[in-house]
Amino acid sequence: MGKFSTGWQAHNLPLNQMLLGDNLKLLALFPKGVFDLIYLDPPYFTQKDWGDFLDLFPSLDAFLDFMHKRLQLCELVMKPNAIICVQADYRTIHYLKCKMDDIFGYKNFINELIWDRNGKGGYRSRRCFTKVHETILVYSKGKHYTFNQICDPFSKELLARYCHNDGDGKGQYSWQSLKSPDDPRLIQAGITSGRYKFSQSGKSLYYKCYLNGRNGVPAGSVIKGISTSHRHVRHGYATEKPEPLLEMLIRAFSNPGDVVLEPFCGSGTACAVAKRLGRKFIGLDMNPNAIKIARHRLKAII
Ligand SMILES: C[S@@+](CC[C@H](N)C(=O)[O-])C[C@H]1O[C@@H](n2cnc3c(N)ncnc32)[C@H](O)[C@@H]1O
Repeated sequence: MGKFSTGWQAHNLPLNQMLLGDNLKLLALFPKGVFDLIYLDPPYFTQKDWGDFLDLFPSLDAFLDFMHKRLQLCELVMKPNAIICVQADYRTIHYLKCKMDDIFGYKNFINELIWDRNGKGGYRSRRCFTKVHETILVYSKGKHYTFNQICDPFSKELLARYCHNDGDGKGQYSWQSLKSPDDPRLIQAGITSGRYKFSQSGKSLYYKCYLNGRNGVPAGSVIKGISTSHRHVRHGYATEKPEPLLEMLIRAFSNPGDVVLEPFCGSGTACAVAKRLGRKFIGLDMNPNAIKIARHRLKAII
C-alpha cells in the first residue's frame, strides 16, 4: 500500500486504478460517500483452491464475519444514493441477504437478480436439481438511486404481431384486446378515430398498441442468455465473470461519469466494463496476479 497508507480525500481518489492489497485495509482509506456503484464478487465459500486464490475459511461464521466487515465499510464509502450489488451462490446468498438487510436496511432492497448460467458451471448431482444459477443482491443507500431501464430485444414472434402500419407516421402496431370502457361514448370515440375495433363477433374490443420507438421489453429479474463462456475475451482468471452481465448492471445502476468500485476485482471485469461505458472505476484485489491481469486488461481499453 505504501504511499496510500494515509488515505485519500474526495479530490484525490486513485481513480481508474487497480490497487493491490486486502480490501479491508484499502476500503478504510477511502473518505465517506465517494462511490456511486459498488459491485462485489467475493469468494463464494467454496472451500477450494481456485489456483488464482484460496477460497478457504475456517467456518461459515468466519466467512460471514469477513463479509460483514467489508460490507460495513462499503456502506460508509457509498454516496447517499449509491447502489451496491453483491454476487454469490446458494452456499451463502441467504445469509448475505440478512447481513445486507441489517447494514443497508430491508426497505432499501431493490432486486434479487438470478443469473441463469445457461447450464454452465457444474454443481451436478444425482441427488438434487442441477445448480445452474447465481444470485446478485442489489441495495440502494437512499431513495433516489439511479435505475436506467434495460430492455430485452423483442422476440421474432412478438415483432411479427406488430405487423400493421397505417402509413400515418405513428409506426407499427398490433391489435390487442381491451376491457370495454364503462362509458359507451369512449368506445364510440375510439371506433370513430380508428383506435378501437370490435372483433367480428362483436363481443371483444381491441385497441391499436404501437411500438412507439420501443426497442424491447423491460428486462426481468432472471438473466438468461449469458453464460460463463460468453466472455468477449478470455483473461485466464478462473472465476472471471462475463462482461455482458456486468454491462447490464453498470448500465442499469449508474450513469456515465459515475465512480464504480470493485473491491474483489480479480481480472477486473466490472472495471473494464465501467471504463468502456464511460464510468470511472477503482479495482481492489489482494492477489498480485489478479492486479497484473486487470491492469493489462484495462490498458487495452481506450
Ligand atoms: C470471485 S473472484 C473475482 C473475480 C472477478 N469478478 C473477475 O471477473 O475476474 C474473488 C477475488 O477476490 C479476491 N480476494 C479475496 N479476498 C480478498 C481480500 N480480503 N481483499 C482483496 N481481494 C480479495 C481474490 O483474490 C479473487 O481475485
